[in-house]
Amino acid sequence: MSKIAVLTSGGDAPGMNAAISAVVRRGLSKNLEVYGIKYGYSGLIKGEIVKLDYESTEGIISQGGTVLKSARCEEFKFLNVQKRAIEVLHSKGIKGLVVIGGNGSLKGAESLSALGFPVVGIPGSIDNDVPGTDFSIGFDSAVNVVIDAIDKIRYTAASIGRIIIIEVMGRKSGDIALWSGIGADAESIIIPEVDFNIEHIIKSIQDNQRRNKMDNIIVLAEGVCSGEELKNRIEAYLHAEIRVMTLGYLQRGGSPSALDRMIASKMGVGAVDLLCQGKKGLMVGIKNNQLRAIPFEEAYMEKHCVDLDDYYLADSMRKRFVL
Ligand code: ADP
Ligand code: F6P
Repeated sequence: MSKIAVLTSGGDAPGMNAAISAVVRRGLSKNLEVYGIKYGYSGLIKGEIVKLDYESTEGIISQGGTVLKSARCEEFKFLNVQKRAIEVLHSKGIKGLVVIGGNGSLKGAESLSALGFPVVGIPGSIDNDVPGTDFSIGFDSAVNVVIDAIDKIRYTAASIGRIIIIEVMGRKSGDIALWSGIGADAESIIIPEVDFNIEHIIKSIQDNQRRNKMDNIIVLAEGVCSGEELKNRIEAYLHAEIRVMTLGYLQRGGSPSALDRMIASKMGVGAVDLLCQGKKGLMVGIKNNQLRAIPFEEAYMEKHCVDLDDYYLADSMRKRFVL
């Protein structure tokens, strides 16, 4: 293998640059030419490909987002477009591809692989919903951003005695809500994986109010409902001033955390090594703190789930026992 390329696709995530840097540097150390494809699959089909050198990676590990830019590209779901992408890669002499992205992007990677092109995927998404890996790049940074935001919001909530619903991202996954809810000691955590009972939420608020604790932080995963919907449901039971805060794109921004830089570096190096060994159709992931390579189709059989033990742990830590 003499030439490889790397692209980032779908929702950008902090730590994607660390993975790009690792791919480029490992590639160069193995005497490969490394190319960067701009704007994900959209740039691939348009041939927006640039040669990357060591200098192009300097200083990027600490930057959020992706220096290669990202995009969503609906037409890439069509076979004729995927074939065109492979023609572009062949025309540039590129023999292997590293795709960094979430579930959708990895589906795209799997399609190219099924057409015979050597591809290795790296899970990159703040949602942490990619099967076959305990962590995807960006999740830890997003959780840290949310915890930092809640720590700040807590001061005002406590001072003025408010119920504040914090709506966080995650698509259908509750991982960001669960981890940040535990980390910021939220009074309630609502995630799509566990049915919630509005009366329990009301009771928890009222119990707190009875002991004169008026601030209540409710962390709500976007996959359940909107913050406004939840607010309306609570207000139907309770006369209270409730505020909603949707953290939104803040969660995809910021400098990547140490954990994200670390796993992204390991995954980037691992992906290049696999391509050099002639392996393909694989995703690199982290399982039980170990780097692993898993075929795309096997990864999808594993299904990523939040750890329900963590959810019940959060629940048990909020119980107050009267002796
Ligand atoms: P993410 O990768 O963050 O999950 P998306 O689900 O939007 O984000 O997917 C990113 C891109 O991956 C899509 O815009 C499309 O180009 C490609 N993609 C998504 N699903 C498929 C699919 N089933 N087959 C081929 N390509 C896909
Ligand atoms: O997949 C990452 C993510 O940030 C989700 O958490 C969120 O639902 C979605 O992307 C938002 O997508 P867009 O950038 O298209 O608004």
